Amino acid sequence: MAGTTGSMTSRLAGFYKLTPQERLRIVKEFARLTDEEARLLQSTGGIELSLADRMIENVIGAMPVPLGIATNFLINGKDYLVPMAIEEPSVVAAASNAAKMAREKGGFTAFSTDPIMIGQVQSIGISDPYDARLRILMEKDRILKRANEQDPVLLSVGGGAKDLDVKVLQSPIGPMVVTELYVDVRDAMGANAVNTMCEAVAPLIEEIAGGKVYLRIISNLAIRRLARARAVFSKEALGGEDVVDAILMAYAFALADPYRCATHNKGIMNGIIAVALATSNDTRALEAGAHAYAARSGSYKPLSTWEKNQDGDLVGTLEMPMAVGIIGGAIRTHPIARISLKILGVKSARELAEVMVSVGLAQNLAALKALSTVGIQKGHMKLHARNIAIMAGAQGDLIDKVASRLAEEGKVRLDRAKEILEEFRKKSNT
Ligand code: MEV
Repeated sequence: MAGTTGSMTSRLAGFYKLTPQERLRIVKEFARLTDEEARLLQSTGGIELSLADRMIENVIGAMPVPLGIATNFLINGKDYLVPMAIEEPSVVAAASNAAKMAREKGGFTAFSTDPIMIGQVQSIGISDPYDARLRILMEKDRILKRANEQDPVLLSVGGGAKDLDVKVLQSPIGPMVVTELYVDVRDAMGANAVNTMCEAVAPLIEEIAGGKVYLRIISNLAIRRLARARAVFSKEALGGEDVVDAILMAYAFALADPYRCATHNKGIMNGIIAVALATSNDTRALEAGAHAYAARSGSYKPLSTWEKNQDGDLVGTLEMPMAVGIIGGAIRTHPIARISLKILGVKSARELAEVMVSVGLAQNLAALKALSTVGIQKGHMKLHARNIAIMAGAQGDLIDKVASRLAEEGKVRLDRAKEILEEFRKKSNT
Protein backbone atom coordinates (compact mmCIF):
# COMPACT_ATOMS: atom_id res chain seq x y z
CA MET A 1 0.00 0.00 0.00
CA ALA A 2 1.45 3.35 -0.97
CA GLY A 3 0.20 5.18 2.07
CA THR A 4 1.98 2.77 4.35
CA THR A 5 4.66 0.77 2.57
CA GLY A 6 5.17 2.71 -0.64
CA SER A 7 4.53 -0.23 -2.99
CA MET A 8 1.31 1.02 -4.63
CA THR A 9 1.21 3.78 -7.19
CA SER A 10 -0.81 6.99 -7.19
CA ARG A 11 -0.69 6.95 -11.01
CA LEU A 12 -4.32 6.04 -11.55
CA ALA A 13 -5.25 6.44 -15.21
CA GLY A 14 -8.97 6.95 -15.79
CA PHE A 15 -9.70 7.46 -12.09
CA TYR A 16 -11.99 10.34 -13.02
CA LYS A 17 -14.17 8.07 -15.12
CA LEU A 18 -15.10 5.83 -12.18
CA THR A 19 -18.09 6.25 -9.92
CA PRO A 20 -17.50 7.69 -6.42
CA GLN A 21 -17.99 4.16 -5.05
CA GLU A 22 -15.39 2.67 -7.36
CA ARG A 23 -12.95 5.45 -6.56
CA LEU A 24 -13.47 4.93 -2.85
CA ARG A 25 -12.76 1.21 -3.26
CA ILE A 26 -9.34 2.06 -4.74
CA VAL A 27 -8.55 4.67 -2.08
CA LYS A 28 -9.70 2.28 0.64
CA GLU A 29 -7.23 -0.29 -0.55
CA PHE A 30 -4.44 2.27 -1.06
CA ALA A 31 -4.76 3.70 2.45
CA ARG A 32 -6.09 0.56 4.22
CA LEU A 33 -9.22 2.35 5.34
CA THR A 34 -11.65 0.43 7.52
CA ASP A 35 -15.23 -0.23 6.42
CA GLU A 36 -16.37 2.38 8.94
CA GLU A 37 -13.98 5.00 7.55
CA ALA A 38 -15.19 4.28 4.03
CA ARG A 39 -18.80 4.59 5.19
CA LEU A 40 -18.10 7.91 6.90
CA LEU A 41 -16.46 9.34 3.78
CA GLN A 42 -19.59 8.76 1.74
CA SER A 43 -22.05 9.88 4.40
CA THR A 44 -21.75 13.40 3.06
CA GLY A 45 -22.61 15.10 6.34
CA GLY A 46 -19.24 13.97 7.66
CA ILE A 47 -19.64 15.02 11.29
CA GLU A 48 -22.17 14.39 14.04
CA LEU A 49 -24.14 17.43 15.13
CA SER A 50 -22.95 16.92 18.72
CA LEU A 51 -19.33 17.17 17.57
CA ALA A 52 -20.04 20.26 15.45
CA ASP A 53 -21.68 21.81 18.50
CA ARG A 54 -18.49 21.32 20.51
CA MET A 55 -16.26 22.73 17.74
CA ILE A 56 -17.74 26.23 17.40
CA GLU A 57 -20.53 28.35 18.89
CA ASN A 58 -24.20 28.69 17.94
CA VAL A 59 -24.15 25.59 15.72
CA ILE A 60 -27.19 24.82 13.59
CA GLY A 61 -25.72 22.25 11.20
CA ALA A 62 -22.73 21.51 8.99
CA MET A 63 -21.67 22.70 5.57
CA PRO A 64 -20.36 19.79 3.51
CA VAL A 65 -17.85 20.48 0.73
CA PRO A 66 -16.93 17.89 -1.92
CA LEU A 67 -13.83 15.84 -1.12
CA GLY A 68 -11.84 14.75 -4.17
CA ILE A 69 -8.61 12.82 -4.58
CA ALA A 70 -5.73 14.23 -6.61
CA THR A 71 -3.84 11.36 -8.20
CA ASN A 72 -0.34 10.93 -9.66
CA PHE A 73 1.63 12.72 -6.93
CA LEU A 74 5.18 11.45 -6.57
CA ILE A 75 6.96 13.45 -3.88
CA ASN A 76 10.47 12.63 -2.68
CA GLY A 77 10.06 9.24 -4.36
CA LYS A 78 6.84 8.36 -2.50
CA ASP A 79 3.40 8.02 -4.06
CA TYR A 80 0.58 10.03 -2.51
CA LEU A 81 -3.14 10.19 -3.07
CA VAL A 82 -4.07 13.72 -2.00
CA PRO A 83 -7.49 14.51 -0.49
CA MET A 84 -8.73 17.95 -1.51
CA ALA A 85 -11.87 19.60 -0.12
CA ILE A 86 -13.04 22.36 -2.46
CA GLU A 87 -16.19 23.65 -4.12
CA GLU A 88 -14.46 24.86 -7.30
CA PRO A 89 -14.49 22.62 -10.39
CA SER A 90 -11.27 21.72 -12.24
CA VAL A 91 -8.89 22.19 -9.29
CA VAL A 92 -8.52 18.48 -8.47
CA ALA A 93 -8.25 17.51 -12.15
CA ALA A 94 -5.67 20.24 -12.77
CA ALA A 95 -3.50 19.17 -9.83
CA SER A 96 -3.66 15.51 -10.92
CA ASN A 97 -2.75 16.47 -14.45
CA ALA A 98 0.25 18.57 -13.45
CA ALA A 99 1.40 15.81 -11.08
CA LYS A 100 1.23 13.38 -13.97
CA MET A 101 3.45 15.65 -16.09
CA ALA A 102 5.93 16.05 -13.21
CA ARG A 103 6.30 12.26 -12.79
CA GLU A 104 8.16 12.00 -16.06
CA LYS A 105 11.13 13.86 -14.53
CA GLY A 106 10.91 12.19 -11.14
CA GLY A 107 8.02 14.11 -9.56
CA PHE A 108 8.42 16.71 -6.84
CA THR A 109 11.33 17.24 -4.50
CA ALA A 110 10.17 18.89 -1.31
CA PHE A 111 11.75 19.82 1.99
CA SER A 112 11.01 22.04 4.94
CA THR A 113 12.52 23.87 7.88
CA ASP A 114 11.91 22.91 11.50
CA PRO A 115 8.34 23.80 12.49
CA ILE A 116 9.20 27.07 14.24
CA MET A 117 6.33 29.48 14.92
CA ILE A 118 6.75 33.04 16.17
CA GLY A 119 4.84 34.41 19.17
CA GLN A 120 4.70 38.16 19.78
CA VAL A 121 4.47 40.01 23.08
CA GLN A 122 3.86 43.75 22.76
CA SER A 123 5.12 46.10 25.51
CA ILE A 124 3.96 49.71 25.61
CA GLY A 125 4.92 52.73 27.72
CA ILE A 126 8.63 52.05 28.10
CA SER A 127 10.68 55.28 28.20
CA ASP A 128 14.00 53.57 27.38
CA PRO A 129 12.96 50.96 24.76
CA TYR A 130 16.46 50.15 23.48
CA ASP A 131 17.77 49.49 26.96
CA ALA A 132 14.61 47.47 27.72
CA ARG A 133 15.41 45.38 24.65
CA LEU A 134 18.79 44.47 26.09
CA ARG A 135 17.34 43.83 29.54
CA ILE A 136 14.92 41.32 28.00
CA LEU A 137 17.66 39.68 25.92
CA MET A 138 19.84 39.32 29.02
CA GLU A 139 17.03 37.39 30.72
CA LYS A 140 16.42 35.12 27.74
CA ASP A 141 16.99 31.86 29.60
CA ARG A 142 14.54 32.79 32.37
CA ILE A 143 11.87 33.77 29.83
CA LEU A 144 12.32 30.61 27.75
CA LYS A 145 12.15 28.50 30.92
CA ARG A 146 8.86 30.16 31.91
CA ALA A 147 7.51 29.55 28.39
CA ASN A 148 8.55 25.92 28.41
CA GLU A 149 6.96 25.23 31.78
CA GLN A 150 3.61 25.65 29.99
CA ASP A 151 3.94 22.62 27.72
CA PRO A 152 5.81 19.62 29.14
CA VAL A 153 4.33 17.35 26.47
CA LEU A 154 5.71 19.50 23.65
CA LEU A 155 9.05 19.55 25.46
CA SER A 156 9.07 15.77 25.83
CA VAL A 157 8.81 15.33 22.04
CA GLY A 158 11.67 17.74 21.34
CA GLY A 159 9.67 20.92 20.81
CA GLY A 160 9.32 24.04 22.91
CA ALA A 161 10.46 27.67 22.99
CA LYS A 162 13.99 27.55 21.54
CA ASP A 163 14.99 31.19 21.28
CA LEU A 164 13.74 34.74 21.39
CA ASP A 165 14.51 38.12 19.94
CA VAL A 166 13.35 41.63 20.76
CA LYS A 167 12.64 44.49 18.41
CA VAL A 168 11.83 48.15 18.95
CA LEU A 169 9.11 49.45 16.64
CA GLN A 170 8.39 53.09 15.95
CA SER A 171 4.62 53.42 15.80
CA PRO A 172 2.02 56.21 15.61
CA ILE A 173 1.63 55.98 19.39
CA GLY A 174 5.37 56.05 20.06
CA PRO A 175 7.97 53.30 20.43
CA MET A 176 6.94 49.79 21.41
CA VAL A 177 9.06 46.82 22.40
CA VAL A 178 8.09 43.52 20.86
CA THR A 179 9.48 40.27 22.22
CA GLU A 180 9.32 37.38 19.79
CA LEU A 181 9.40 33.79 21.00
CA TYR A 182 10.56 31.15 18.54
CA VAL A 183 8.71 27.97 19.36
CA ASP A 184 9.26 24.57 17.80
CA VAL A 185 5.70 23.24 17.71
CA ARG A 186 6.58 19.82 16.23
CA ASP A 187 3.45 18.19 14.72
CA ALA A 188 0.93 20.85 15.79
CA MET A 189 -0.15 23.94 13.90
CA GLY A 190 0.99 25.58 17.11
CA ALA A 191 -1.35 28.50 17.78
CA ASN A 192 -2.51 27.13 21.14
CA ALA A 193 0.95 26.30 22.41
CA VAL A 194 2.44 29.60 21.28
CA ASN A 195 -0.39 31.78 22.57
CA THR A 196 -0.26 30.05 25.96
CA MET A 197 3.47 30.67 26.17
CA CYS A 198 3.12 34.34 25.17
CA GLU A 199 0.52 34.88 27.88
CA ALA A 200 2.66 33.09 30.45
CA VAL A 201 5.81 35.13 29.84
CA ALA A 202 4.01 38.49 29.75
CA PRO A 203 4.25 39.25 33.53
CA LEU A 204 7.93 38.34 33.50
CA ILE A 205 8.55 40.69 30.57
CA GLU A 206 6.74 43.49 32.42
CA GLU A 207 8.94 42.81 35.46
CA ILE A 208 12.13 42.91 33.39
CA ALA A 209 11.34 45.69 30.92
CA GLY A 210 8.78 47.84 32.72
CA GLY A 211 5.83 49.24 30.77
CA LYS A 212 2.70 47.19 30.21
CA VAL A 213 2.14 44.17 27.99
CA TYR A 214 -0.88 44.27 25.67
CA LEU A 215 -0.98 41.80 22.76
CA ARG A 216 0.27 38.23 23.30
CA ILE A 217 -0.31 36.26 20.13
CA ILE A 218 1.17 34.05 17.41
CA SER A 219 2.29 35.63 14.12
CA ASN A 220 0.85 34.11 10.98
CA LEU A 221 3.85 35.31 9.01
CA ALA A 222 5.54 31.99 9.75
CA ILE A 223 8.82 32.93 8.13
CA ARG A 224 10.73 30.34 10.19
CA ARG A 225 8.42 27.52 9.12
CA LEU A 226 8.92 27.27 5.39
CA ALA A 227 8.15 24.49 2.95
CA ARG A 228 9.84 24.25 -0.43
CA ALA A 229 9.17 22.21 -3.53
CA ARG A 230 10.75 21.96 -6.97
CA ALA A 231 9.81 20.04 -10.10
CA VAL A 232 10.87 19.79 -13.71
CA PHE A 233 8.24 19.61 -16.45
CA SER A 234 9.62 18.40 -19.76
CA LYS A 235 8.80 20.46 -22.82
CA GLU A 236 7.38 17.30 -24.40
CA ALA A 237 4.98 16.72 -21.50
CA LEU A 238 3.90 20.36 -21.67
CA GLY A 239 3.27 20.26 -25.41
CA GLY A 240 6.44 21.83 -26.79
CA GLU A 241 8.91 24.62 -26.18
CA ASP A 242 6.28 27.19 -27.20
CA VAL A 243 4.24 26.21 -24.17
CA VAL A 244 7.31 26.55 -21.93
CA ASP A 245 7.84 30.06 -23.32
CA ALA A 246 4.16 30.95 -22.93
CA ILE A 247 4.27 29.88 -19.27
CA LEU A 248 7.37 32.04 -18.74
CA MET A 249 5.48 34.97 -20.22
CA ALA A 250 2.61 34.36 -17.80
CA TYR A 251 5.11 34.28 -14.95
CA ALA A 252 6.72 37.52 -16.14
CA PHE A 253 3.27 39.14 -16.05
CA ALA A 254 2.84 38.11 -12.40
CA LEU A 255 6.31 39.41 -11.55
CA ALA A 256 5.55 42.78 -13.12
CA ASP A 257 2.00 43.37 -11.92
CA PRO A 258 0.40 42.90 -8.47
CA TYR A 259 -3.08 42.57 -10.03
CA ARG A 260 -1.97 39.51 -12.01
CA CYS A 261 0.23 38.34 -9.13
CA ALA A 262 -2.73 38.12 -6.73
CA THR A 263 -4.46 35.74 -9.13
CA HIS A 264 -1.24 33.80 -9.76
CA ASN A 265 -0.87 33.25 -6.02
CA LYS A 266 -4.58 32.48 -5.70
CA GLY A 267 -4.03 29.59 -8.11
CA ILE A 268 -1.31 28.23 -5.81
CA MET A 269 -3.61 28.61 -2.80
CA ASN A 270 -6.39 26.70 -4.60
CA GLY A 271 -4.34 23.55 -4.07
CA ILE A 272 -2.94 24.36 -0.65
CA ILE A 273 -6.21 25.42 0.91
CA ALA A 274 -8.06 22.40 -0.49
CA VAL A 275 -5.63 20.05 1.29
CA ALA A 276 -5.76 22.24 4.40
CA LEU A 277 -9.54 22.02 4.48
CA ALA A 278 -9.51 18.26 3.89
CA THR A 279 -7.23 17.89 6.91
CA SER A 280 -9.05 20.53 9.02
CA ASN A 281 -6.07 22.84 9.13
CA ASP A 282 -6.43 26.60 9.64
CA THR A 283 -6.95 27.89 6.10
CA ARG A 284 -7.03 31.55 7.15
CA ALA A 285 -3.65 31.26 8.86
CA LEU A 286 -2.18 29.79 5.68
CA GLU A 287 -3.68 32.50 3.46
CA ALA A 288 -2.46 35.28 5.76
CA GLY A 289 1.04 33.78 5.94
CA ALA A 290 1.27 33.20 2.22
CA HIS A 291 0.30 36.68 1.11
CA ALA A 292 2.36 38.42 3.80
CA TYR A 293 5.34 36.30 2.69
CA ALA A 294 4.68 37.24 -0.94
CA ALA A 295 4.89 40.91 0.06
CA ARG A 296 7.89 40.64 2.37
CA SER A 297 10.18 42.62 0.03
CA GLY A 298 7.79 45.57 0.22
CA SER A 299 6.13 44.77 -3.08
CA TYR A 300 3.79 41.86 -3.72
CA LYS A 301 5.46 39.04 -5.70
CA PRO A 302 4.68 35.52 -6.94
CA LEU A 303 5.32 32.78 -4.38
CA SER A 304 6.67 30.52 -7.13
CA THR A 305 9.48 30.88 -9.66
CA TRP A 306 9.54 29.53 -13.24
CA GLU A 307 12.62 29.13 -15.43
CA LYS A 308 13.81 27.21 -18.47
CA ASN A 309 16.76 24.84 -17.95
CA GLN A 310 19.55 23.99 -20.41
CA ASP A 311 17.41 21.28 -22.02
CA GLY A 312 14.55 23.69 -22.65
CA ASP A 313 12.41 22.10 -19.92
CA LEU A 314 10.42 24.12 -17.42
CA VAL A 315 11.63 24.24 -13.82
CA GLY A 316 9.35 25.44 -11.05
CA THR A 317 10.02 26.19 -7.40
CA LEU A 318 7.71 27.23 -4.61
CA GLU A 319 8.73 28.43 -1.15
CA MET A 320 6.25 29.64 1.42
CA PRO A 321 5.25 29.49 5.09
CA MET A 322 3.32 26.34 5.84
CA ALA A 323 1.84 26.35 9.34
CA VAL A 324 0.03 23.03 9.31
CA GLY A 325 -0.38 20.29 11.87
CA ILE A 326 -1.39 16.67 12.10
CA ILE A 327 -2.37 16.80 15.78
CA GLY A 328 -4.42 19.12 17.95
CA GLY A 329 -7.59 21.10 17.44
CA ALA A 330 -10.06 19.99 14.79
CA ILE A 331 -7.38 17.95 13.03
CA ARG A 332 -7.87 15.06 15.43
CA THR A 333 -11.52 15.57 16.31
CA HIS A 334 -12.92 15.86 12.80
CA PRO A 335 -13.38 12.30 11.52
CA ILE A 336 -12.96 13.22 7.85
CA ALA A 337 -9.75 15.10 8.62
CA ARG A 338 -8.41 12.00 10.35
CA ILE A 339 -9.29 9.87 7.33
CA SER A 340 -7.73 12.41 4.96
CA LEU A 341 -4.50 12.19 6.94
CA LYS A 342 -4.67 8.41 6.78
CA ILE A 343 -5.12 8.56 2.99
CA LEU A 344 -2.13 10.90 2.75
CA GLY A 345 -0.11 8.57 4.95
CA VAL A 346 1.97 11.47 6.32
CA LYS A 347 3.92 10.80 9.50
CA SER A 348 4.68 14.39 10.55
CA ALA A 349 3.49 17.96 10.09
CA ARG A 350 6.61 18.59 8.05
CA GLU A 351 5.72 15.79 5.65
CA LEU A 352 2.21 17.24 5.30
CA ALA A 353 3.73 20.68 4.59
CA GLU A 354 5.96 19.12 1.92
CA VAL A 355 2.99 17.47 0.23
CA MET A 356 1.03 20.72 0.35
CA VAL A 357 3.76 22.87 -1.14
CA SER A 358 4.08 20.30 -3.96
CA VAL A 359 0.34 20.47 -4.58
CA GLY A 360 0.61 24.29 -4.68
CA LEU A 361 3.34 24.09 -7.30
CA ALA A 362 1.35 21.58 -9.37
CA GLN A 363 -1.73 23.77 -9.18
CA ASN A 364 0.22 26.83 -10.30
CA LEU A 365 1.72 24.98 -13.26
CA ALA A 366 -1.67 23.67 -14.35
CA ALA A 367 -3.23 27.14 -14.20
CA LEU A 368 -0.37 28.82 -16.08
CA LYS A 369 -0.36 26.12 -18.75
CA ALA A 370 -4.10 26.39 -19.31
CA LEU A 371 -4.12 30.19 -19.23
CA SER A 372 -1.21 30.62 -21.61
CA THR A 373 -2.61 28.09 -24.11
CA VAL A 374 -6.30 27.13 -24.38
CA GLY A 375 -7.62 29.28 -21.53
CA ILE A 376 -9.20 27.94 -18.35
CA GLN A 377 -12.79 27.89 -19.52
CA LYS A 378 -12.15 24.77 -21.61
CA GLY A 379 -11.46 22.66 -18.52
CA HIS A 380 -14.50 24.07 -16.72
CA MET A 381 -16.57 23.42 -19.84
CA LYS A 382 -15.47 19.76 -19.93
CA LEU A 383 -16.69 19.15 -16.41
CA HIS A 384 -19.87 21.07 -17.03
CA ALA A 385 -20.43 19.06 -20.23
CA ARG A 386 -20.03 15.78 -18.30
CA ASN A 387 -22.62 16.97 -15.78
CA ILE A 388 -25.04 17.90 -18.56
CA ALA A 389 -24.45 14.53 -20.28
CA ILE A 390 -25.28 12.72 -17.02
CA MET A 391 -28.37 14.90 -16.55
CA ALA A 392 -29.46 13.92 -20.08
CA GLY A 393 -29.31 10.26 -19.04
CA ALA A 394 -25.89 9.19 -20.34
CA GLN A 395 -24.17 6.35 -18.51
CA GLY A 396 -20.76 4.61 -18.70
CA ASP A 397 -18.72 5.40 -21.82
CA LEU A 398 -21.53 7.50 -23.25
CA ILE A 399 -20.91 10.21 -20.64
CA ASP A 400 -17.53 11.13 -22.12
CA LYS A 401 -18.73 10.68 -25.70
CA VAL A 402 -21.69 13.01 -25.25
CA ALA A 403 -19.62 15.48 -23.21
CA SER A 404 -16.88 15.64 -25.84
CA ARG A 405 -19.42 16.36 -28.60
CA LEU A 406 -21.07 19.07 -26.50
CA ALA A 407 -17.70 20.70 -25.80
CA GLU A 408 -16.64 20.42 -29.47
CA GLU A 409 -19.83 22.08 -30.61
CA GLY A 410 -19.48 24.71 -27.90
CA LYS A 411 -23.16 24.24 -27.02
CA VAL A 412 -23.31 22.74 -23.56
CA ARG A 413 -27.09 22.50 -23.21
CA LEU A 414 -29.38 19.81 -21.90
CA ASP A 415 -31.62 19.69 -25.01
CA ARG A 416 -28.58 19.19 -27.26
CA ALA A 417 -27.16 16.55 -24.89
CA LYS A 418 -30.40 14.58 -25.18
CA GLU A 419 -30.26 14.73 -28.98
CA ILE A 420 -26.63 13.59 -29.10
CA LEU A 421 -27.35 10.79 -26.64
CA GLU A 422 -30.24 9.64 -28.80
CA GLU A 423 -27.97 9.61 -31.86
CA PHE A 424 -25.36 7.49 -30.08
CA ARG A 425 -28.03 5.08 -28.82
CA LYS A 426 -29.51 4.71 -32.30
CA LYS A 427 -26.05 4.07 -33.75
CA SER A 428 -25.30 1.35 -31.23
CA ASN A 429 -28.64 -0.35 -31.99
CA THR A 430 -27.98 -0.49 -35.73
C1 MEV B 1 -8.81 30.08 -10.62
O1 MEV B 1 -9.39 29.61 -9.41
C2 MEV B 1 -7.31 30.15 -10.49
C3 MEV B 1 -6.59 30.83 -11.66
O2 MEV B 1 -7.17 32.11 -11.87
C4 MEV B 1 -5.15 30.96 -11.28
C5 MEV B 1 -4.32 31.81 -12.20
O3 MEV B 1 -4.89 32.71 -12.87
O4 MEV B 1 -3.09 31.60 -12.25
C6 MEV B 1 -6.75 30.05 -12.93
